[in-house]
Amino acid sequence: MDKLVVFSGSSNRSLSEKICRKLDTELAKAKISRFSDGEVRIQLEENVRGKDVFLIQSTCPPVNENLMELLVMLDAARRASAQRITAVIPYFGYARQDRKDRPRVPITAKLAANILASSGANRVLTLDLHAGQIQGFFDIPLDHLYAINGFFEYFKQNKIEDLVIVSPDVGGIKMARAYAKRFGADLAIVDKRRKSPESTEVMHILGDVKDKNVLLVDDIIATGSSLVNGAAALKKEGAKNIFAAISHGILSNHAVDKIKDSRIDSLVITDSIPLPEEKKQEKIKVVSLDSLFADAIKRIHFEKSISVLFDTTGS
Ligand code: R5P
Repeated sequence: MDKLVVFSGSSNRSLSEKICRKLDTELAKAKISRFSDGEVRIQLEENVRGKDVFLIQSTCPPVNENLMELLVMLDAARRASAQRITAVIPYFGYARQDRKDRPRVPITAKLAANILASSGANRVLTLDLHAGQIQGFFDIPLDHLYAINGFFEYFKQNKIEDLVIVSPDVGGIKMARAYAKRFGADLAIVDKRRKSPESTEVMHILGDVKDKNVLLVDDIIATGSSLVNGAAALKKEGAKNIFAAISHGILSNHAVDKIKDSRIDSLVITDSIPLPEEKKQEKIKVVSLDSLFADAIKRIHFEKSISVLFDTTGS
């Protein structure tokens, strides 16, 4: 492991530290600060010449600051002659801008993929991208991990009877189907219409949720509108308890208050994005994916197959 060097940006240091503990290594030292005008200022304080470098950074809010920090760290590692650089991005921001859905709009997910590669990333390790096809936006190898196994372990200890897995929108069916298969549960779908980036409306519930306990699964919770409105509609259809498992807890705007006042019994997120003290509340639980990332980093470092970590069926 003497060639393995792990750095962390400032977005999610707690996860980076946990990953390093699992890897039985220390986070490499880097000075991360800002010049007086706000420009990102980086200095890697350890030798990376000929090393296998992993830079851990979620591009969560403040998205542009964190993305820029990652780009500058990549450039620093490349110019310091690292042998290979893997950008470990537990949450990849900008992923929702993945197509031209209106005239004269950018495909910012592709732009972000391009600048990561041109800044020095040789490979990417990430988790539950908003759409699987975003993998193809990167012209460098990308390993895509899933939170499902972490959630499955959590719910094995917090067992839910009479379970139905629900996707909060039609776009999430594929993900929900994988959960339904893994949990051996039925599947239902919320037919959601997005009125604006911040608000949604439920049109119909497809499937039977009456007298069942619901597990809503999704990749992202941002404003919480999809989740909270979905939960209210499911209750109206006769659902019993409502739980949610969502990979990336952005929890922007008033999401935390909305959840507190909602019909949701509990929301489980991962630590792909840190949950700040002021957002912590009883209904929100966090499952750590430190072991998953540590395992993936080790396998990439030793050039071992990591497809075993992609297995969502539990076989
Ligand atoms: C949308 O397609 C995503 O999968 C999420 O459902 C969405 O980003 C959640 O956003 P919000 O919490 O703001 O409703």
